[in-house]
Amino acid sequence: MRITIVGCGSIGSKLAKAADEMNEVKRIYLMDIRKEVAEKVAAELNKAIVIDSVDEELYHSDLVVEAASQEAARDILPKVVTRGVDIMIMSVGTFVDDEFRNMIFEKAKVSEARVFIPTGALCGVDGLRSAVIDDVDEVELITTKSPKSLRGVAYVEKKGIDVEKFTEKTTIYSGCAREAVKLFPKNVNVAATVSLLGIGFDKTKVTVVVDPDIKSNSHELRIKGKFGEMNCHTYNIPEPDNPRTSHLATLSAIAALKRLARNEWFGI
Ligand SMILES: NC(=O)c1ccc[n+]([C@@H]2O[C@H](COP(=O)([O-])OP(=O)(O)OC[C@H]3O[C@@H](n4cnc5c(N)ncnc54)[C@H](O)[C@@H]3O)[C@@H](O)[C@H]2O)c1
Repeated sequence: MRITIVGCGSIGSKLAKAADEMNEVKRIYLMDIRKEVAEKVAAELNKAIVIDSVDEELYHSDLVVEAASQEAARDILPKVVTRGVDIMIMSVGTFVDDEFRNMIFEKAKVSEARVFIPTGALCGVDGLRSAVIDDVDEVELITTKSPKSLRGVAYVEKKGIDVEKFTEKTTIYSGCAREAVKLFPKNVNVAATVSLLGIGFDKTKVTVVVDPDIKSNSHELRIKGKFGEMNCHTYNIPEPDNPRTSHLATLSAIAALKRLARNEWFGI
């Protein structure tokens, strides 16, 4: 298998290292808008070379992994699926745009490209996947973040919220996933994953809480439906090189690549 990784930051660099150690992966093409970042990652690996654009080795790639940004995902998705190449997306929030999403899945159907979305920093996605086969009445995601991981978020700054000043747990946002994904583009990708898998961006509720006493980011997924009720709480440790990204999100990308490379589908 040959893979292209777009974005060699916190997730992309660790995924590249894991891919380098997988026998099934023969070649890794690395791309980053900061070329020096891709070069630094490639220098530590055996199977990696740096490319300047995703198009460069698309004909030789079996899978493209986006681990960059929503803008990058929006840019590369049409190019990759049109060529019939499979793609894994980490910046899932890009799919909040219904027109764009439908266009991508339509193109993918025609070209037989597959679009993969790892479970990310969240547990309970497996239960949701099964639950929505029958009626599901409520899906709610309660995301609790440390002040550090909400620094620089446009919504927080616009509202004049000083996240460092909270002395106790405080809800700073409550609304539907469609709005939450737009307001917190780098923080609630899991809300997009849950919406796509479950009852959609408009019906999925999202609450964002800031807690000055935690070092981890937590996601609580609550589902009610014909199957019963589920309440799944994930306490995540952030990546040291990017406090917005949970280590479990990185691991979910590596786990997804392993399943694809080995064609092993336990717990599908
Ligand atoms: N699905 C999930 O659960 C989940 C969890 C965490 C992060 N994410 C998302 O995954 C993405 C990557 O996260 P990360 O922690 O590795 O981020 P990061 O900031 O550590 O790394 C991103 C890298 O992508 C590069 N980049 C940015 N725009 C690019 C472009 N247009 N083309 C090529 N490279 C580009 C940057 O230079 C950087 O090196 C982010 O969009 C993040 O929001 C998803």
